[in-house]
Amino acid sequence: MGSEKKKILIVDDETCVRHMLRLVLEGAGYRVTEAGSGTEALRLLQDEPFDIILSDIRMPELDGLDLLRQIKQLGVEGMVVMMSAYGSIDTAVECLKKGAYDYISKPFKPDEVILTLRKAEERIRLQRENVKLRWQLSQKKDNHSIVYRSNVMERLLDLVSRVAETNSSVLITGETGTGKELVARALHQQSPRYKKPFVAVNCGAIAPSLVESELFGHARGAFTGAVQQKAGLFEEASGGTLFLDEIGEFPMDLQPKLLRVLQEGEVRRVGETRSRKVAVRVLAATARDLRELVANGDFRDDLFFRLAVVEMHIPPLREGREDVVLLAKHFANGIAASEGRSTPEITLAVEERLGDYSWPGNVRELANFMERTMIFSRGDVLGLETLPGEIRRKNRGGEQSFSLKQAALRLEKEYIHKALAATGGNRTQAAKLLEISLRKLLYKIKEYGLE
Ligand SMILES: Nc1ncnc2c1ncn2[C@@H]1O[C@H](COP(=O)(O)OP(=O)(O)OP(=O)(O)O)[C@@H](O)[C@H]1O
Ligand SMILES: [Mg+2]
Repeated sequence: MGSEKKKILIVDDETCVRHMLRLVLEGAGYRVTEAGSGTEALRLLQDEPFDIILSDIRMPELDGLDLLRQIKQLGVEGMVVMMSAYGSIDTAVECLKKGAYDYISKPFKPDEVILTLRKAEERIRLQRENVKLRWQLSQKKDNHSIVYRSNVMERLLDLVSRVAETNSSVLITGETGTGKELVARALHQQSPRYKKPFVAVNCGAIAPSLVESELFGHARGAFTGAVQQKAGLFEEASGGTLFLDEIGEFPMDLQPKLLRVLQEGEVRRVGETRSRKVAVRVLAATARDLRELVANGDFRDDLFFRLAVVEMHIPPLREGREDVVLLAKHFANGIAASEGRSTPEITLAVEERLGDYSWPGNVRELANFMERTMIFSRGDVLGLETLPGEIRRKNRGGEQSFSLKQAALRLEKEYIHKALAATGGNRTQAAKLLEISLRKLLYKIKEYGLE
């Protein structure tokens, strides 16, 4: 970014003014395009974006103010600088009110024009930097932010906010990498306990012989190696939340003890006789089918019911497909921002391929995938050629298709909608994302009634 030549569109009905400006601006390192009228300018703007639009005010047919109005209305990108020989203060104020960046009165000296353009450029740079900083800040402030767009996820997060206030145990289920821990943290963050600890323990990662003392603590000398007395994770999480990850791996012989702790709200350290009160909210997660474990006698049903007072299931990515592209952008932007690169553009072809792939490792796989893709992509555009082979080819398959024409129209409408949402309604950028001309986009917006 930054160092590449800035593109300027000069709009003036007087040929000699355009030529003079072209000489001056090209000499100052700009890439110049000329338009002899407001109408021609609009046509050019619909086909490609410009960084700065330098427009005369007095012109036949579409004058400068009308052009400015249309540019703002269409959401076309670019700083507008107006110029006029007939300029009065009123016209200048009017231009600035309508969204022009600055105003130059004719006749002007070349230096004056260049100075104004440099200021506009600086403003563009600051604006872009601002967007990046805001993004970085939002990441820091809320690094557990959950990105979603699908209805299933929306309902789930709705449930999260309602359940967060209660003390009920929650069992979070879902395939690997779907975001179970993220949801557990959100439950804690949104609860009245948010200032108290959130303690996560992976039940599958502790040696079975140590699970009891890890969770409940131990007295000094309770067993070989217990040189110091130690509080368990339940006590550590007191007042807060204890997250029992991979609960399906919890040792069968300790399950009655866990159940008792949950029911009575007190723990007894290994080797001690007295109990200690703990006010802990318990969340559990599993990628396994706990009901099946219960049916096979590998998990106690009473513990299951105690843990699964509320059950939250996070669907795999391939079922909530609308989330894929949004998440991909989220990760790509995050990586770009952290490396000081500009926000990459993801082509439509890539979006389609991302949506088609089955993502067996779900969001985690997608995050890792985007990291790899960003390493291998040089430019600001993530195109099909930057994708690793496996994803370039894979197809979900097995899906029934009806009218191809209808499906194509639906998809087109959906993507236009998404692109507009992703760019906050900026049509120039949306057209870029969609890889169509702005003119085509404007036409389609009208056709699909997406205004
Ligand atoms: N909706 C989401 N928005 C943003 N990031 C997400 C989302 N879902 C998951 N992630 C990210 O994906 C990664 C995997 O999520 P998480 O660790 O919560 O999954 P998990 O279900 O606990 O996986 P596992 O079963 O393998 O432990 C994390 O880096 C998490 O931040
Ligand atoms: Mg996890």
